Amino acid sequence: MIDAGVAGTLRVAPSILAADFGALASAVELVHDETDWLHVDVMDGHFVPNVSIGPPVVQSLRRYSDKFFDCHLMLSQPERYLAAFAEAGADGCTVHVEIGGTAALISQMRELGLRVGLAANPDTPFERVEPFLDEIDLLLLMTVFPGFGGQSFMPEVLVKVRSAREAIDRRALKVDLEVDGGIDERSAPLAIAAGANVLVAGSAIFSRPDPLTAARALRELAQRARP
Ligand code: DX5
Ligand code: ZN
Repeated sequence: MIDAGVAGTLRVAPSILAADFGALASAVELVHDETDWLHVDVMDGHFVPNVSIGPPVVQSLRRYSDKFFDCHLMLSQPERYLAAFAEAGADGCTVHVEIGGTAALISQMRELGLRVGLAANPDTPFERVEPFLDEIDLLLLMTVFPGFGGQSFMPEVLVKVRSAREAIDRRALKVDLEVDGGIDERSAPLAIAAGANVLVAGSAIFSRPDPLTAARALRELAQRARP
């Protein structure tokens, strides 16, 4: 397992969903020097209306990257696949609170040695995830409805980001606060100023002519926006 680093550190996590699936290894290598984690979006066509990739792709990419693999499981039944992700080389997995069974999923992830993430959709209130804050390593607040890359950032989620940051700091928890969806040069500083410390970005990195420069620019903007 690759170490995630110190919780709360500013991190840029490129989402490979926006990369060329026929050339994933080179996409991952291309942004290596200006990014921190690798965000892997896994979709089942049930929890979200799209399908993407699974453990075999994680296993193949593992040979090309020494980054922390941050696997975002948009799955109705993640319990069926967590072991396969751990075996394939995932370092952390994030499951959605909306599917229920959160306590059992957290235990399963811990037993597998995975770093534990919990995600909430834009319309899921902070109160749904708050009871689990002591037990997780990462809280992912979606800033679009999951399923597709390239959507517009939803600024109304910033209130929830602030609430989450306050709760994490008040309780002195070692929990990363990640935002995902529509993160670009405009929205990244807003999310960071609201208290997020991990930025997931797909289109704003891989759909740009120069992904490495785009990743560096995001990080620099984020650094300046830190509270
Ligand atoms: C959306 C995924 C995101 C997505 C982000 O369902 O969870 O990680 O790839 O893509 P952009 O940055 O293009 O919104
Ligand atoms: Zn994601």
